[in-house]
Amino acid sequence: MVDQMKDEDLVFSRVKPDVCGDAHPKALLKTIQEDGDALKKLANQHIITCDQFDRQTILQLFRLASKYESNPKRYNNPLQGKILISAFYEPSTRTRLSFESAWHRLGGDIMSITDRSTTGIAKGESLSDIGEMFNNYGDCVVLRESNEDSVKEMTSTLRIPIINAGNGTDEHPTQAMADLYTIFKWRPELLLDNPKKIRIGVVGVPSYMRTVRSLLKIFAHFPEIFEEIVIIHDQEEDKIFTEGQREQLEKAGLKLRLTNRLNKELPELDVVYINAIAWVDNGFESHGEKFVLNAQSPLKDDAIILHPLARGDELATDLDGTPHNWYFSQARGAVFLRMALLTCMVERTEMVMDVI
Ligand code: CP
Repeated sequence: MVDQMKDEDLVFSRVKPDVCGDAHPKALLKTIQEDGDALKKLANQHIITCDQFDRQTILQLFRLASKYESNPKRYNNPLQGKILISAFYEPSTRTRLSFESAWHRLGGDIMSITDRSTTGIAKGESLSDIGEMFNNYGDCVVLRESNEDSVKEMTSTLRIPIINAGNGTDEHPTQAMADLYTIFKWRPELLLDNPKKIRIGVVGVPSYMRTVRSLLKIFAHFPEIFEEIVIIHDQEEDKIFTEGQREQLEKAGLKLRLTNRLNKELPELDVVYINAIAWVDNGFESHGEKFVLNAQSPLKDDAIILHPLARGDELATDLDGTPHNWYFSQARGAVFLRMALLTCMVERTEMVMDVI
């Protein structure tokens, strides 16, 4: 069969070129001055919430991520000899595979759980007992679990660092880091003094959606880059935030406004972040079903769209081939961001700092 293929067939069977956002990771190397000490603080740290970071640590992680992204072949296995326990008790495409890709690219080994029914959990084993066992098997844990208390429970016995890769409706800190990393690659000048501020629309519900909750928390470390954050939702207003959530964000300097009119806002938005899924208990809920972005949406010419994915009807595929599509770049950048974080957590930072 193969020898009967014509040239035209081959054209259609080739790998498609990457059409998504044109990010410039090298620009971050110029706008962020190196400060290796900020990264050393991450050694053996659990990564649980975006609240735990400070600006300098976030920026230095982005700098290291941009080094990795700029020179993906120049790092010689800094995680060789280290083992990652990738424990996903809830479905995932991007988070699990990007963490595992990051670890593999750095030369480490991986043990992976992808199905809770094949583990001791099916026999009623507690996460604290599983954490005690993990201490014997690996050097770092990445955990996704549907219960908000899961990370806390596992850290009660863990003596190796853990990353919260999504705990129910609570947080997904490395997703938020990847989101902000994308924004800074898109507009590195936001990191200069007195930046021209951006207006961002967030289609989602901060009280239910862990990606949105973590996103707003990481934004709270950089309030000076936002003219306004418009929360676009279809809920009753008293359900948008949990108790104290809005106050915490506003106290940090974010200007928040709520609306239920997406298309009215779009012509003024520089960034549109959209998500429609909240993971609740052992299943997901969809929200904002009336909000849809497609190639006919009244977007600013230079507006970018971010989405943590997986997508549903809210993000039409006819946007994939347009310059608004930065969601694929966002997913790609998450690999490098996670490479940077993992390197620091297992104390291999010095092995990569001197490579430019
Ligand atoms: N963004 C995200 O968390 O995707 P997955 O559920 O596929 O990991």
